[in-house]
Amino acid sequence: MKVAKLVAAAVMASAFVLPTALPAVAAGNDKPQPPGLAKQDTLRWAAPKNVRIGTAVAGGGHHETMPYANPFTSDQQYREVLAAEFSSVSPENQAKWEFIHPQRDQYRFAEMDAIVEFAQQNGQVVRGHTLFWHSQNPAWLEQGNFSKDELRSILKDHITTVVGRYAGKIQQWDVANEIFNDNGTLRTTDNIWIRELGPEIIADAFRWAHEADPKAKLFFNDYGVESINAKSTAYVKLIPKLQAQGVKVDGFAVQGHLSTQYGFPGDMQANLQRFDDLGLETAVTEIDVRMNIAAGTKPTAEQLAKQSSYYQRALEACLNVEDCKSFTIWGFNDKYSWVPVFFSGQGEATVMWEDYTRKPSYYALQSTLLKANPGGDQAFGPPPRLPAVTPAVASKS
Ligand code: XIL
Repeated sequence: MKVAKLVAAAVMASAFVLPTALPAVAAGNDKPQPPGLAKQDTLRWAAPKNVRIGTAVAGGGHHETMPYANPFTSDQQYREVLAAEFSSVSPENQAKWEFIHPQRDQYRFAEMDAIVEFAQQNGQVVRGHTLFWHSQNPAWLEQGNFSKDELRSILKDHITTVVGRYAGKIQQWDVANEIFNDNGTLRTTDNIWIRELGPEIIADAFRWAHEADPKAKLFFNDYGVESINAKSTAYVKLIPKLQAQGVKVDGFAVQGHLSTQYGFPGDMQANLQRFDDLGLETAVTEIDVRMNIAAGTKPTAEQLAKQSSYYQRALEACLNVEDCKSFTIWGFNDKYSWVPVFFSGQGEATVMWEDYTRKPSYYALQSTLLKANPGGDQAFGPPPRLPAVTPAVASKS
């Protein structure tokens, strides 16, 4: 990194060690601060004391096919905003099977290690994602023609190794991801574990995760479960059954991949509440709000307003449910969003423009947090210091 940049980073870092006795929002904002980095002008500062505001940390997956360097390891501004704005981070791809376990006898921990270390340096918690899924599995696993006994021990070893490595450092694990079809039946064809080993393997995955890290909160996570529907109801039925067998399940998470072309799931709060009523924690783990957009054009004011209202209503739904304490956006900058890659003709789904300036949806989140927490709070406030790009990791990207 250039010296000038390092100096700039050091100056930014000093903004985070301001004494906690600073006057509240209005006065704090009198000082000119770079957007997104002022201590009292970030999402994590605005959030109520017991609520974590998170983001996915870009890397792996679609990023590897894009014409830019690894954002987390190479984009210093990305790291600054990541540290300043969020009190929770989720590896976007870096803990998925294909990334972290690329060969049967080989794990690739460097990048997940770096995320966990970054989080610790910046007073952030980590959501682990994910251990049991039908997607982004390595070819050696999907095409290995393993016997049932082999597959079972492969899964057990993976969960024990990955969860064990980060034991005590992960707040919540998405143990099982997307195990149901939209009609509420289990994914018995495309999920290798359920197909080969039967539904009982779900309980084992949770048991092994709990053994490896007794403190981590263990979650189910899915898309299309924001509303009360066949899929979310399948979880309402499954989780108490598992618990009755003595399996520790702590939470249910809705991903929240929304689109302005569909209506907002107006019963989201009621849906989260039925899981809260079961004694579970809930979370919003991957929200983004995409829109139809022609290449090279900008969203209209109307589109941006609609997007803001979706972000706001989803956050309100979570804030209104007692044990919904974790709200994560799936990336914070349109430059790195997965949406245009996966949904053709759609994009602009995050809360910041490519130059890191804030979109109306950012301000919708910020004002909604401040409404729930007038004056802001510093419980999960800004980081004590700002780490530069870790050279060891950066050089590998
Ligand atoms: C996506 C990532 O954002 C992409 O980088 C990757 O190429 C594909 O997966 N549900 C999930 C996430 O649980 O893991 C997915 O993330 C988005 C949908």
